[in-house]
Amino acid sequence: MDKILILDFGSQTTQLIGRRVRDLGVYTEIIPGDSPLEAALTQDVKGIILSGSPESVYGEGAAPDKKVYECGLPLLGICYGLHRMTHDLGGKVEPLPKMEYGRIEVKVEKREGSGLLSRFLQGFKNSFTAWMSHGDTLTKFAPGFKEYGSSGTGFPAVVAHEEKPWFGVQFHPEVTHCEGGDDILGAFVLGVCGCAKGWSMEHYVEELGQSLKERAGDNPVLLLISGGVDSTVAGAALLKTLKSEQVHLMYMDTGLMRKNETAAVRANLEKLGAKNLHIIICEDEFLSALKGKAEPEEKRRIIGDLFITIQEREVARLKLPDSYLLAQGTLYTDLIESGKGVGKKAHVIKSHHNVASPLVDAKRKAGKIIEPLDRLYKDEVRKLGRLLGVDEEIVCRHPFPGPGLAVRILGEVTKEKCDILREADAIYIEELKNRRGSSGKSLYDEIWQAFAVLLPIRSVGVAGDVRKYGWVLALRAITSADGMTADVYPFETRDLLEISTRITNSVKDVGRVTYDISSKPPATIEWE
Ligand code: XMP
Repeated sequence: MDKILILDFGSQTTQLIGRRVRDLGVYTEIIPGDSPLEAALTQDVKGIILSGSPESVYGEGAAPDKKVYECGLPLLGICYGLHRMTHDLGGKVEPLPKMEYGRIEVKVEKREGSGLLSRFLQGFKNSFTAWMSHGDTLTKFAPGFKEYGSSGTGFPAVVAHEEKPWFGVQFHPEVTHCEGGDDILGAFVLGVCGCAKGWSMEHYVEELGQSLKERAGDNPVLLLISGGVDSTVAGAALLKTLKSEQVHLMYMDTGLMRKNETAAVRANLEKLGAKNLHIIICEDEFLSALKGKAEPEEKRRIIGDLFITIQEREVARLKLPDSYLLAQGTLYTDLIESGKGVGKKAHVIKSHHNVASPLVDAKRKAGKIIEPLDRLYKDEVRKLGRLLGVDEEIVCRHPFPGPGLAVRILGEVTKEKCDILREADAIYIEELKNRRGSSGKSLYDEIWQAFAVLLPIRSVGVAGDVRKYGWVLALRAITSADGMTADVYPFETRDLLEISTRITNSVKDVGRVTYDISSKPPATIEWE
Protein backbone atom coordinates (compact mmCIF):
# COMPACT_ATOMS: atom_id res chain seq x y z
CA MET A 1 0.00 0.00 0.00
CA ASP A 2 1.37 3.43 -0.97
CA LYS A 3 2.46 5.50 1.94
CA ILE A 4 3.51 9.05 2.80
CA LEU A 5 6.24 9.41 5.39
CA ILE A 6 5.91 12.44 7.67
CA LEU A 7 9.03 13.75 9.41
CA ASP A 8 7.87 15.29 12.67
CA PHE A 9 9.92 18.29 13.76
CA GLY A 10 7.67 18.99 16.72
CA SER A 11 4.76 21.01 15.33
CA GLN A 12 1.41 20.91 17.13
CA THR A 13 -0.20 20.15 13.77
CA THR A 14 1.91 17.15 12.65
CA GLN A 15 -0.89 14.76 13.65
CA LEU A 16 -3.29 16.80 11.53
CA ILE A 17 -1.11 16.33 8.44
CA GLY A 18 -1.41 12.57 9.00
CA ARG A 19 -5.18 12.80 9.46
CA ARG A 20 -5.76 14.89 6.33
CA VAL A 21 -3.64 12.67 4.09
CA ARG A 22 -5.44 9.58 5.39
CA ASP A 23 -8.75 11.28 4.63
CA LEU A 24 -7.51 11.44 1.05
CA GLY A 25 -7.25 7.64 1.17
CA VAL A 26 -3.47 7.39 1.57
CA TYR A 27 -1.70 5.74 4.49
CA THR A 28 0.72 7.88 6.53
CA GLU A 29 3.44 7.17 9.01
CA ILE A 30 4.95 9.75 11.34
CA ILE A 31 8.54 9.42 12.56
CA PRO A 32 10.75 11.89 14.47
CA GLY A 33 12.24 14.41 12.05
CA ASP A 34 15.84 13.46 12.82
CA SER A 35 15.38 9.64 12.55
CA PRO A 36 17.81 7.69 10.37
CA LEU A 37 15.93 7.04 7.12
CA GLU A 38 17.57 3.83 5.95
CA ALA A 39 14.94 1.53 7.46
CA ALA A 40 11.99 3.91 7.02
CA LEU A 41 12.41 4.32 3.26
CA THR A 42 10.64 1.15 2.23
CA GLN A 43 9.34 0.50 -1.29
CA ASP A 44 5.86 1.69 -0.45
CA VAL A 45 6.95 5.23 0.58
CA LYS A 46 6.00 7.49 -2.31
CA GLY A 47 6.74 10.90 -0.82
CA ILE A 48 7.93 12.68 2.29
CA ILE A 49 6.39 15.61 4.15
CA LEU A 50 8.60 17.67 6.47
CA SER A 51 6.45 19.11 9.26
CA GLY A 52 6.50 22.45 11.05
CA SER A 53 8.31 23.07 14.33
CA PRO A 54 8.30 25.51 17.24
CA GLU A 55 12.08 25.87 16.69
CA SER A 56 14.16 27.77 14.14
CA VAL A 57 16.61 26.23 11.68
CA TYR A 58 19.34 28.61 12.92
CA GLY A 59 18.49 27.73 16.54
CA GLU A 60 17.59 24.46 18.25
CA GLY A 61 15.67 22.96 15.33
CA ALA A 62 16.46 19.32 14.48
CA ALA A 63 17.86 18.37 11.06
CA PRO A 64 16.73 15.40 8.96
CA ASP A 65 18.95 12.55 7.79
CA LYS A 66 20.74 13.77 4.62
CA LYS A 67 19.19 10.82 2.77
CA VAL A 68 15.99 12.79 2.53
CA TYR A 69 17.64 14.90 -0.20
CA GLU A 70 19.32 11.92 -1.87
CA CYS A 71 16.46 9.42 -2.05
CA GLY A 72 14.84 10.98 -5.10
CA LEU A 73 11.35 11.00 -3.58
CA PRO A 74 9.06 14.04 -3.79
CA LEU A 75 9.34 16.32 -0.75
CA LEU A 76 6.88 18.81 0.69
CA GLY A 77 8.15 21.17 3.40
CA ILE A 78 5.49 22.80 5.56
CA CYS A 79 6.59 25.99 7.37
CA TYR A 80 9.71 24.82 9.29
CA GLY A 81 9.92 21.95 6.79
CA LEU A 82 10.35 24.54 4.02
CA HIS A 83 12.87 26.49 6.15
CA ARG A 84 14.72 23.25 6.76
CA MET A 85 15.00 22.44 3.06
CA THR A 86 16.07 26.00 2.28
CA HIS A 87 18.71 26.04 5.01
CA ASP A 88 20.05 22.54 4.27
CA LEU A 89 20.25 23.13 0.52
CA GLY A 90 22.14 26.43 0.60
CA GLY A 91 19.49 29.16 1.05
CA LYS A 92 18.94 31.49 3.99
CA VAL A 93 16.24 31.74 6.67
CA GLU A 94 16.00 34.75 8.99
CA PRO A 95 13.64 36.05 11.66
CA LEU A 96 10.72 38.25 10.66
CA PRO A 97 10.48 41.66 12.32
CA LYS A 98 7.17 40.48 13.79
CA MET A 99 5.69 36.98 13.97
CA GLU A 100 2.84 36.25 11.52
CA TYR A 101 -0.06 34.35 12.98
CA GLY A 102 -3.54 33.50 11.70
CA ARG A 103 -5.36 34.02 8.39
CA ILE A 104 -3.31 35.62 5.62
CA GLU A 105 -4.08 35.99 1.88
CA VAL A 106 -1.86 34.12 -0.55
CA LYS A 107 -1.60 34.68 -4.32
CA VAL A 108 -0.29 31.91 -6.54
CA GLU A 109 1.13 31.96 -10.05
CA LYS A 110 -0.27 28.98 -12.00
CA ARG A 111 1.51 26.99 -14.67
CA GLU A 112 0.03 25.10 -17.58
CA GLY A 113 1.44 21.70 -18.46
CA SER A 114 1.62 18.20 -17.18
CA GLY A 115 4.94 18.27 -15.30
CA LEU A 116 5.09 17.65 -11.57
CA LEU A 117 5.35 21.38 -10.83
CA SER A 118 2.13 22.09 -12.75
CA ARG A 119 0.43 19.18 -11.05
CA PHE A 120 1.41 20.62 -7.68
CA LEU A 121 0.28 24.14 -8.54
CA GLN A 122 -3.06 22.83 -9.82
CA GLY A 123 -3.95 22.18 -6.18
CA PHE A 124 -3.95 25.91 -5.42
CA LYS A 125 -6.57 28.56 -6.05
CA ASN A 126 -5.15 31.74 -7.60
CA SER A 127 -5.92 33.58 -4.42
CA PHE A 128 -6.98 32.11 -1.09
CA THR A 129 -6.88 32.57 2.66
CA ALA A 130 -4.12 30.51 4.25
CA TRP A 131 -3.31 29.97 7.90
CA MET A 132 0.16 30.93 9.08
CA SER A 133 2.14 30.69 12.26
CA HIS A 134 5.78 31.63 11.76
CA GLY A 135 8.49 33.92 13.06
CA ASP A 136 11.02 33.18 10.28
CA THR A 137 11.03 33.66 6.52
CA LEU A 138 13.18 32.74 3.52
CA THR A 139 15.55 35.60 2.68
CA LYS A 140 17.49 33.67 0.03
CA PHE A 141 16.17 30.66 -1.89
CA ALA A 142 18.32 27.58 -2.12
CA PRO A 143 19.79 27.08 -5.64
CA GLY A 144 17.17 25.84 -8.13
CA PHE A 145 14.19 27.04 -6.02
CA LYS A 146 11.76 29.70 -7.19
CA GLU A 147 8.78 31.50 -5.68
CA TYR A 148 5.35 30.60 -7.08
CA GLY A 149 3.19 32.30 -4.50
CA SER A 150 3.50 35.07 -1.95
CA SER A 151 1.57 36.23 1.07
CA GLY A 152 -0.37 39.50 1.26
CA THR A 153 2.34 40.62 3.65
CA GLY A 154 5.00 40.20 0.95
CA PHE A 155 6.80 37.02 2.02
CA PRO A 156 7.35 33.80 0.00
CA ALA A 157 4.42 31.44 0.58
CA VAL A 158 4.77 28.78 -2.14
CA VAL A 159 8.20 27.66 -3.33
CA ALA A 160 9.31 24.87 -5.64
CA HIS A 161 12.47 23.51 -7.21
CA GLU A 162 12.55 23.98 -10.95
CA GLU A 163 13.70 20.46 -11.76
CA LYS A 164 13.41 18.24 -8.72
CA PRO A 165 10.06 17.29 -7.12
CA TRP A 166 10.72 19.48 -4.08
CA PHE A 167 8.04 21.84 -2.84
CA GLY A 168 7.43 24.05 0.15
CA VAL A 169 4.63 26.12 1.64
CA GLN A 170 5.03 28.72 4.35
CA PHE A 171 1.46 28.18 5.62
CA HIS A 172 -0.30 25.14 7.10
CA PRO A 173 -2.58 23.37 4.56
CA GLU A 174 -3.43 20.74 7.20
CA VAL A 175 -5.32 23.24 9.35
CA THR A 176 -9.05 23.56 8.65
CA HIS A 177 -8.81 27.38 8.55
CA CYS A 178 -6.67 27.08 5.41
CA GLU A 179 -8.96 27.48 2.39
CA GLY A 180 -8.52 24.53 0.01
CA GLY A 181 -5.86 22.93 2.23
CA ASP A 182 -7.02 19.41 1.32
CA ASP A 183 -6.64 20.18 -2.39
CA ILE A 184 -3.08 21.34 -1.79
CA LEU A 185 -2.16 18.20 0.14
CA GLY A 186 -4.02 16.16 -2.48
CA ALA A 187 -2.03 17.81 -5.30
CA PHE A 188 1.18 16.67 -3.60
CA VAL A 189 0.12 13.23 -2.42
CA LEU A 190 -1.98 12.13 -5.39
CA GLY A 191 -0.77 14.44 -8.20
CA VAL A 192 2.98 14.60 -7.54
CA CYS A 193 3.68 11.42 -5.58
CA GLY A 194 1.10 9.44 -7.58
CA CYS A 195 -0.11 7.55 -4.51
CA ALA A 196 -2.91 5.06 -5.11
CA LYS A 197 -5.79 5.40 -2.65
CA GLY A 198 -5.32 2.16 -0.76
CA TRP A 199 -6.25 3.30 2.74
CA SER A 200 -9.84 2.53 3.71
CA MET A 201 -11.41 0.83 6.68
CA GLU A 202 -12.58 -2.04 4.48
CA HIS A 203 -8.99 -2.56 3.39
CA TYR A 204 -7.77 -2.23 6.96
CA VAL A 205 -10.14 -4.96 8.12
CA GLU A 206 -8.95 -7.24 5.35
CA GLU A 207 -5.26 -6.67 6.13
CA LEU A 208 -5.88 -6.91 9.85
CA GLY A 209 -7.66 -10.22 9.40
CA GLN A 210 -4.67 -11.68 7.60
CA SER A 211 -2.08 -10.35 10.02
CA LEU A 212 -4.06 -11.37 13.13
CA LYS A 213 -4.51 -14.88 11.79
CA GLU A 214 -0.78 -15.14 11.05
CA ARG A 215 0.22 -13.75 14.45
CA ALA A 216 -2.23 -15.73 16.53
CA GLY A 217 -2.33 -19.05 14.70
CA ASP A 218 -4.44 -21.33 16.88
CA ASN A 219 -3.25 -19.76 20.13
CA PRO A 220 -5.72 -18.12 22.49
CA VAL A 221 -5.87 -14.33 22.51
CA LEU A 222 -6.82 -12.47 25.67
CA LEU A 223 -8.14 -8.90 25.66
CA LEU A 224 -8.85 -6.86 28.76
CA ILE A 225 -12.03 -4.90 28.14
CA SER A 226 -12.88 -1.62 29.86
CA GLY A 227 -16.21 -1.06 28.09
CA GLY A 228 -14.92 2.06 26.30
CA VAL A 229 -14.64 2.64 22.55
CA ASP A 230 -11.08 1.40 22.00
CA SER A 231 -11.20 -1.90 23.85
CA THR A 232 -14.67 -2.73 22.53
CA VAL A 233 -13.62 -2.08 18.93
CA ALA A 234 -10.42 -4.09 19.51
CA GLY A 235 -12.63 -6.91 20.82
CA ALA A 236 -14.91 -6.65 17.79
CA ALA A 237 -11.87 -6.82 15.48
CA LEU A 238 -10.62 -9.99 17.19
CA LEU A 239 -14.05 -11.61 17.13
CA LYS A 240 -14.55 -10.74 13.49
CA THR A 241 -11.18 -12.02 12.27
CA LEU A 242 -10.32 -14.96 14.58
CA LYS A 243 -12.34 -17.96 15.73
CA SER A 244 -14.59 -16.80 18.53
CA GLU A 245 -13.56 -19.80 20.70
CA GLN A 246 -10.00 -18.52 20.53
CA VAL A 247 -10.85 -15.04 21.85
CA HIS A 248 -11.00 -14.49 25.61
CA LEU A 249 -12.41 -11.20 26.85
CA MET A 250 -11.97 -10.17 30.46
CA TYR A 251 -13.81 -7.31 32.11
CA MET A 252 -13.55 -6.21 35.74
CA ASP A 253 -16.54 -4.71 37.49
CA THR A 254 -14.79 -2.67 40.16
CA GLY A 255 -18.01 -1.29 41.61
CA LEU A 256 -16.78 2.07 40.36
CA MET A 257 -18.61 1.78 37.06
CA ARG A 258 -21.54 3.80 35.75
CA LYS A 259 -25.16 2.67 36.05
CA ASN A 260 -25.92 -0.62 34.26
CA GLU A 261 -22.46 -0.63 32.73
CA THR A 262 -21.64 -4.28 33.29
CA ALA A 263 -24.92 -5.51 31.84
CA ALA A 264 -24.42 -3.29 28.79
CA VAL A 265 -20.83 -4.50 28.29
CA ARG A 266 -22.00 -8.12 28.47
CA ALA A 267 -24.86 -7.53 26.01
CA ASN A 268 -22.64 -5.71 23.54
CA LEU A 269 -19.87 -8.27 23.53
CA GLU A 270 -22.29 -11.18 23.24
CA LYS A 271 -23.92 -9.42 20.32
CA LEU A 272 -20.50 -9.23 18.68
CA GLY A 273 -20.14 -12.99 19.05
CA ALA A 274 -18.12 -13.32 22.29
CA LYS A 275 -18.11 -16.89 23.61
CA ASN A 276 -15.39 -16.68 26.29
CA LEU A 277 -16.48 -13.67 28.25
CA HIS A 278 -14.99 -13.45 31.74
CA ILE A 279 -16.75 -10.87 33.87
CA ILE A 280 -15.01 -10.46 37.19
CA ILE A 281 -17.10 -8.87 39.93
CA CYS A 282 -14.66 -7.34 42.37
CA GLU A 283 -16.65 -4.48 43.87
CA ASP A 284 -16.08 -5.61 47.46
CA GLU A 285 -12.32 -5.82 47.02
CA PHE A 286 -12.10 -2.32 45.58
CA LEU A 287 -14.45 -0.70 48.07
CA SER A 288 -12.71 -2.26 51.07
CA ALA A 289 -9.29 -1.21 49.76
CA LEU A 290 -10.57 2.34 49.37
CA LYS A 291 -12.22 2.50 52.80
CA GLY A 292 -11.08 5.56 54.75
CA LYS A 293 -8.86 6.81 51.90
CA ALA A 294 -9.48 10.38 50.84
CA GLU A 295 -6.26 11.51 49.18
CA PRO A 296 -6.61 11.48 45.35
CA GLU A 297 -3.19 10.09 44.49
CA GLU A 298 -3.46 7.41 47.17
CA LYS A 299 -6.87 6.39 45.80
CA ARG A 300 -5.45 6.17 42.26
CA ARG A 301 -2.48 4.11 43.48
CA ILE A 302 -4.69 1.68 45.43
CA ILE A 303 -6.96 1.18 42.44
CA GLY A 304 -4.02 0.72 40.03
CA ASP A 305 -2.31 -1.83 42.30
CA LEU A 306 -5.50 -3.76 42.91
CA PHE A 307 -6.26 -3.83 39.19
CA ILE A 308 -2.91 -5.51 38.60
CA THR A 309 -3.30 -7.99 41.47
CA ILE A 310 -6.78 -9.07 40.40
CA GLN A 311 -5.86 -9.12 36.74
CA GLU A 312 -2.92 -11.48 37.38
CA ARG A 313 -4.97 -13.70 39.67
CA GLU A 314 -7.87 -13.97 37.23
CA VAL A 315 -5.71 -14.46 34.16
CA ALA A 316 -3.89 -17.29 35.99
CA ARG A 317 -7.29 -18.82 36.77
CA LEU A 318 -8.08 -19.08 33.08
CA LYS A 319 -5.17 -21.54 32.77
CA LEU A 320 -4.34 -20.41 29.26
CA PRO A 321 -1.25 -22.04 27.71
CA ASP A 322 1.94 -19.94 27.84
CA SER A 323 1.64 -19.34 24.14
CA TYR A 324 -1.41 -17.10 24.57
CA LEU A 325 -1.27 -13.59 23.15
CA LEU A 326 -2.36 -10.48 24.96
CA ALA A 327 -4.32 -7.94 22.89
CA GLN A 328 -4.52 -4.23 23.68
CA GLY A 329 -6.62 -1.38 22.30
CA THR A 330 -3.59 0.92 21.86
CA LEU A 331 -4.12 3.68 19.27
CA TYR A 332 -1.62 5.23 16.89
CA THR A 333 -1.61 8.42 18.96
CA ASP A 334 -0.74 6.42 22.09
CA LEU A 335 2.37 5.14 20.37
CA ILE A 336 3.91 8.30 19.03
CA GLU A 337 4.91 11.34 20.91
CA SER A 338 4.05 14.02 18.41
CA GLY A 339 5.24 17.47 19.29
CA LYS A 340 7.92 16.05 21.54
CA GLY A 341 9.21 13.25 19.37
CA VAL A 342 12.16 15.05 17.80
CA GLY A 343 15.43 13.62 18.92
CA LYS A 344 13.73 11.26 21.34
CA LYS A 345 12.54 7.71 21.01
CA ALA A 346 9.54 7.51 18.73
CA HIS A 347 7.79 4.52 20.21
CA VAL A 348 7.19 5.47 23.80
CA ILE A 349 3.92 4.21 25.18
CA LYS A 350 1.94 7.08 26.60
CA SER A 351 2.13 6.77 30.34
CA HIS A 352 -0.41 9.51 31.14
CA HIS A 353 -2.75 8.08 33.75
CA ASN A 354 -2.19 4.48 32.73
CA VAL A 355 -0.66 2.04 35.13
CA ALA A 356 2.15 -0.06 33.68
CA SER A 357 1.21 -3.68 34.23
CA PRO A 358 3.85 -6.40 34.74
CA LEU A 359 1.66 -8.76 32.72
CA VAL A 360 1.68 -6.40 29.73
CA ASP A 361 5.42 -5.77 30.13
CA ALA A 362 6.19 -9.49 30.23
CA LYS A 363 4.03 -10.24 27.20
CA ARG A 364 5.59 -7.34 25.31
CA LYS A 365 9.10 -8.63 26.08
CA ALA A 366 8.07 -12.07 24.86
CA GLY A 367 6.74 -10.53 21.61
CA LYS A 368 3.23 -11.71 22.46
CA ILE A 369 1.28 -8.46 22.34
CA ILE A 370 -1.12 -7.68 19.53
CA GLU A 371 -2.51 -4.22 19.04
CA PRO A 372 -5.17 -4.30 16.33
CA LEU A 373 -5.75 -0.52 16.43
CA ASP A 374 -2.15 0.65 16.56
CA ARG A 375 -2.24 2.28 13.13
CA LEU A 376 -5.51 4.14 13.72
CA TYR A 377 -6.54 7.56 14.94
CA LYS A 378 -9.53 7.82 17.28
CA ASP A 379 -12.03 8.77 14.59
CA GLU A 380 -10.76 5.90 12.41
CA VAL A 381 -11.38 3.56 15.36
CA ARG A 382 -14.95 4.84 15.42
CA LYS A 383 -15.28 4.19 11.67
CA LEU A 384 -13.87 0.71 12.13
CA GLY A 385 -16.26 0.07 15.02
CA ARG A 386 -19.24 0.99 12.85
CA LEU A 387 -17.99 -1.27 10.07
CA LEU A 388 -17.63 -4.16 12.52
CA GLY A 389 -21.16 -3.65 13.84
CA VAL A 390 -20.35 -2.07 17.20
CA ASP A 391 -23.37 -0.15 18.51
CA GLU A 392 -23.46 3.59 17.85
CA GLU A 393 -23.96 4.10 21.61
CA ILE A 394 -20.46 2.72 22.21
CA VAL A 395 -18.81 4.13 19.14
CA CYS A 396 -19.77 7.67 20.23
CA ARG A 397 -19.16 7.17 23.92
CA HIS A 398 -17.43 9.85 25.96
CA PRO A 399 -14.09 8.88 27.54
CA PHE A 400 -14.25 7.39 31.03
CA PRO A 401 -11.23 7.32 33.37
CA GLY A 402 -9.66 4.01 34.41
CA PRO A 403 -10.27 4.62 38.16
CA GLY A 404 -13.94 5.23 37.32
CA LEU A 405 -16.27 6.93 39.77
CA ALA A 406 -13.53 6.92 42.43
CA VAL A 407 -12.08 10.11 40.92
CA ARG A 408 -15.57 11.61 40.67
CA ILE A 409 -16.44 11.03 44.33
CA LEU A 410 -14.20 13.54 46.04
CA GLY A 411 -12.70 12.24 49.25
CA GLU A 412 -13.69 8.87 50.65
CA VAL A 413 -15.49 6.44 48.34
CA THR A 414 -18.38 4.38 49.72
CA LYS A 415 -20.97 2.15 48.08
CA GLU A 416 -23.72 4.56 49.12
CA LYS A 417 -21.94 7.46 47.42
CA CYS A 418 -21.28 5.36 44.29
CA ASP A 419 -25.01 4.58 44.09
CA ILE A 420 -25.99 8.24 44.48
CA LEU A 421 -23.51 9.35 41.84
CA ARG A 422 -24.52 6.54 39.46
CA GLU A 423 -28.17 7.64 39.61
CA ALA A 424 -27.46 11.35 39.17
CA ASP A 425 -24.93 10.76 36.39
CA ALA A 426 -27.32 8.47 34.50
CA ILE A 427 -30.04 11.14 34.56
CA TYR A 428 -27.59 13.82 33.40
CA ILE A 429 -26.35 11.67 30.48
CA GLU A 430 -29.87 10.60 29.50
CA GLU A 431 -30.94 14.26 29.41
CA LEU A 432 -27.94 15.16 27.23
CA LYS A 433 -28.82 12.39 24.79
CA ASN A 434 -32.44 13.53 24.58
CA ARG A 435 -31.81 17.26 24.13
CA ARG A 436 -30.80 18.86 20.82
CA GLY A 437 -28.06 21.47 20.48
CA SER A 438 -27.78 24.34 17.98
CA SER A 439 -26.05 22.05 15.44
CA GLY A 440 -29.09 19.74 15.42
CA LYS A 441 -27.07 16.97 17.09
CA SER A 442 -27.84 15.81 20.62
CA LEU A 443 -26.12 17.74 23.41
CA TYR A 444 -24.28 14.51 24.22
CA ASP A 445 -22.79 14.42 20.71
CA GLU A 446 -21.88 18.12 20.80
CA ILE A 447 -20.02 17.61 24.07
CA TRP A 448 -16.63 15.86 24.23
CA GLN A 449 -17.04 14.63 27.78
CA ALA A 450 -19.76 15.10 30.38
CA PHE A 451 -20.25 13.63 33.83
CA ALA A 452 -21.42 14.36 37.35
CA VAL A 453 -19.13 14.74 40.38
CA LEU A 454 -20.17 14.12 43.98
CA LEU A 455 -18.63 16.73 46.25
CA PRO A 456 -17.61 15.96 49.82
CA ILE A 457 -19.98 18.56 51.23
CA ARG A 458 -23.60 18.65 52.21
CA SER A 459 -25.78 21.73 52.24
CA VAL A 460 -29.10 22.78 53.70
CA GLY A 461 -32.34 22.70 51.75
CA VAL A 462 -36.08 22.21 52.22
CA ALA A 463 -38.19 19.29 51.07
CA GLY A 464 -41.88 19.83 51.78
CA ASP A 465 -41.66 21.80 55.00
CA VAL A 466 -38.80 19.74 56.30
CA ARG A 467 -35.21 20.88 56.59
CA LYS A 468 -33.00 18.62 54.47
CA TYR A 469 -29.26 18.16 54.47
CA GLY A 470 -28.26 16.83 51.03
CA TRP A 471 -25.09 16.22 49.04
CA VAL A 472 -23.83 18.78 46.54
CA LEU A 473 -23.37 17.57 42.97
CA ALA A 474 -21.31 19.29 40.27
CA LEU A 475 -22.02 18.82 36.57
CA ARG A 476 -19.12 18.97 34.12
CA ALA A 477 -19.39 19.28 30.33
CA ILE A 478 -16.50 20.24 28.10
CA THR A 479 -15.55 20.51 24.47
CA SER A 480 -12.10 19.40 23.44
CA ALA A 481 -10.14 17.80 20.60
CA ASP A 482 -8.00 15.43 22.63
CA GLY A 483 -8.54 16.08 26.33
CA MET A 484 -5.26 17.98 26.60
CA THR A 485 -7.09 21.32 26.73
CA ALA A 486 -10.81 21.87 27.22
CA ASP A 487 -13.47 24.57 27.06
CA VAL A 488 -16.64 24.68 29.11
CA TYR A 489 -19.72 23.66 27.10
CA PRO A 490 -21.96 26.75 26.84
CA PHE A 491 -25.35 25.26 27.83
CA GLU A 492 -28.57 27.15 27.32
CA THR A 493 -29.60 28.16 30.84
CA ARG A 494 -32.95 26.40 30.44
CA ASP A 495 -31.23 23.05 29.80
CA LEU A 496 -29.17 23.37 32.97
CA LEU A 497 -32.14 24.40 35.09
CA GLU A 498 -34.31 21.54 33.87
CA ILE A 499 -31.55 18.95 34.29
CA SER A 500 -30.83 20.22 37.81
CA THR A 501 -34.51 20.02 38.75
CA ARG A 502 -34.83 16.48 37.46
CA ILE A 503 -31.77 15.36 39.41
CA THR A 504 -32.83 16.91 42.71
CA ASN A 505 -36.39 15.59 42.26
CA SER A 506 -35.24 12.05 41.48
CA VAL A 507 -32.13 11.51 43.60
CA LYS A 508 -33.25 12.26 47.13
CA ASP A 509 -29.76 12.49 48.61
CA VAL A 510 -28.69 15.26 46.26
CA GLY A 511 -29.82 18.63 47.60
CA ARG A 512 -28.03 21.04 45.32
CA VAL A 513 -26.57 21.02 41.80
CA THR A 514 -23.80 23.30 40.49
CA TYR A 515 -22.22 23.66 37.04
CA ASP A 516 -18.43 23.69 36.72
CA ILE A 517 -17.42 26.65 34.56
CA SER A 518 -13.66 26.14 34.57
CA SER A 519 -11.68 25.49 31.42
CA LYS A 520 -8.52 23.35 31.20
CA PRO A 521 -6.06 24.86 31.93
CA PRO A 522 -6.10 26.00 34.69
CA ALA A 523 -8.52 23.28 35.89
CA THR A 524 -8.29 19.64 34.76
CA ILE A 525 -11.25 17.75 33.29
CA GLU A 526 -11.69 15.39 36.23
CA TRP A 527 -11.90 16.87 39.72
CA GLU A 528 -9.34 14.54 41.25
P1 XMP B 1 -7.66 15.42 33.17
O1 XMP B 1 -8.48 15.28 34.39
O2 XMP B 1 -6.21 15.04 33.36
O3 XMP B 1 -8.26 14.38 32.16
O4 XMP B 1 -7.80 16.78 32.54
C1 XMP B 1 -7.91 14.25 30.80
C2 XMP B 1 -8.61 13.02 30.25
O5 XMP B 1 -8.07 11.85 30.89
C3 XMP B 1 -9.09 11.16 31.61
N1 XMP B 1 -8.50 10.74 32.88
C4 XMP B 1 -8.08 9.48 33.12
N2 XMP B 1 -8.09 8.38 32.35
N3 XMP B 1 -7.11 7.14 34.10
C5 XMP B 1 -7.60 7.20 32.85
O6 XMP B 1 -7.62 6.18 32.15
C6 XMP B 1 -7.06 8.21 34.95
O7 XMP B 1 -6.58 8.13 36.08
C7 XMP B 1 -7.57 9.44 34.42
N4 XMP B 1 -7.67 10.71 34.93
C8 XMP B 1 -8.25 11.47 33.98
C9 XMP B 1 -10.21 12.17 31.81
O8 XMP B 1 -11.47 11.54 31.98
C10 XMP B 1 -10.10 12.99 30.54
O9 XMP B 1 -10.75 12.34 29.46
